[in-house]
Amino acid sequence: MLSGLPGGAGVNIAHEAVDRHAAGPLQHRTAFRWIGESGDVQELTYGRLAALTSRFANGLAALGIERGDRVFACADRIPELYIAAIGALKHGAVFCPLFSAFGPEPLYQRLERGDARALLTTGRIYRRKIAPLLPRLPRLQHVILADAAAEGTIAYPRFLDAAPDVYTIAPTDPEDPALLHFTSGTSGMPKGALHVHGAVVAHYATGAHVLDLRDGDLFWCTADPGWVTGTIYGLITPLVMGVTSIIDAGPFDAVRWMRLLSEQGVTVWYTSPSAIRRLMRLPPGAVRKEDFRRLRHILSVGEPLPPDAVAWGREVLDRTIHDTWWQTETGAIMVANVPGRPVRPGSMGMPIPGVTATVLQEGEAGAVGVVQDPETAGELGLAVGWPSMFRAYLGEPERYERCFSGGWYRSGDLVRRDADGYFWFVGRKDDIIKTSGQMVGPFEVERLLLSHPSVADAGVIGKPDAMLGESVKAFVVLKSGIRPDDESRRELIAFSRKNLGAAIAPREIEFISSIPRNRAGKVMRRLLKARETGGAAGDTSTLAE
Ligand code: WT7
Repeated sequence: MLSGLPGGAGVNIAHEAVDRHAAGPLQHRTAFRWIGESGDVQELTYGRLAALTSRFANGLAALGIERGDRVFACADRIPELYIAAIGALKHGAVFCPLFSAFGPEPLYQRLERGDARALLTTGRIYRRKIAPLLPRLPRLQHVILADAAAEGTIAYPRFLDAAPDVYTIAPTDPEDPALLHFTSGTSGMPKGALHVHGAVVAHYATGAHVLDLRDGDLFWCTADPGWVTGTIYGLITPLVMGVTSIIDAGPFDAVRWMRLLSEQGVTVWYTSPSAIRRLMRLPPGAVRKEDFRRLRHILSVGEPLPPDAVAWGREVLDRTIHDTWWQTETGAIMVANVPGRPVRPGSMGMPIPGVTATVLQEGEAGAVGVVQDPETAGELGLAVGWPSMFRAYLGEPERYERCFSGGWYRSGDLVRRDADGYFWFVGRKDDIIKTSGQMVGPFEVERLLLSHPSVADAGVIGKPDAMLGESVKAFVVLKSGIRPDDESRRELIAFSRKNLGAAIAPREIEFISSIPRNRAGKVMRRLLKARETGGAAGDTSTLAE
């Protein structure tokens, strides 16, 4: 159960996640165990985590960071990132994680749009990507370096050493902002989805009923905290549930992952179809069922979990993988295969208790209606009002309003519901690219390509890819006089990787003579996709020429 702040002072995520455990019998329990690439291990108990996050909160106070100010982090899965997140929440600041593989341009867009006041990062990321941006970020006054010292920055050890390890969380209203997560759009720059402290009710409910976390569990969420899954289920929820988590601090490695699962004795594992696809390529015999005796529950999120992945789980791990569905905006799992209910391979399950999900279809004048017939595809809608619902797109009230219609939140995902109420993912309504489970907004990539002096026009799509789900592919029209050769291609790919980072940059560039646009000038990515996959082009009546 959750406890609320002492004295009826409201609800604060950091109190539910750490402080209330540190004050009780769990204080000596390991909260996180970080395992490095070479097997080195670092652990923090709930008690120690409470002290360190209090120091971080006191440190923020000493810098003049106020409630509601935005504190960002951009780092690999290092302890300091986790401490910064909880420390910021204690202090009433809004925590915003940034994926460490972003290049300088996506970092700048998010730091600027999110009005970052403080940033925790590492020396390497600072030197290569952050320092050159600082002249354009006058409001970002405090950069804390976890592992290095550099002029004009704050060294993390000194930041912490100077601060007391007791911090009293101020009264926190459940509606006070807590987390900011950027997510991609198709036609604009990334949107900052704002979440509140009261969302912890949903973290707790889904931790208990979907992840099935119990006393004594060893949990592993493989998502990076640079993304919403890694923050909500890799950081906050296991703490709220009082369990121990392992964190693989190194990069993905199929063999090491299987070894971690068995040697660590993981009991609950939350991962992604992208990871499962890579594990499925391990030679048969590399994994032995008996190694996974302690593994009780496996879940997946982020992309469709195909039936063959469920079959692989049953065959190799002797367990059923449970698909779950949610998105940055929903703040917590909404639709899931819960323990105890039979899994239909390929289905994402049913709405969880407290969530009303439906299939919507557009009717007259943009009004939405509920689809009654089973097996009819439409947009997945959620009845407004669940506790972890995003409360705003930062600074974009109209974009936020457009997500709602007739009391429903419109997810942008197409689904169908079978006669028994199971939901099946059909596709996205928009052009958002999902590569390795991570969202890429085509507009963000097109905009960068258009800033290159050789590029006249660009259109970006997700190309079906057996391993990544989709890979980012760009169609480019070069300016006259520029040769559409390998050298131009290499130059544009290098330019994209340098500015956008490997997580977003196109893997493939194809030169074409014109980008299909509609009469309003919008890139018709659907046509580019049809060209790529040989599929039907669909309605072309709005094409400009
Ligand atoms: C989008 C949300 C899920 C939280 C982390 C990513 C797709 C998510 C599934 C699933 C098919 C899925 C949807 C959704 N998605 N889960 N089980 N089956 N598609 O959050 O980056 O906001 O992405 O991921 O398209 O809208 P996100």
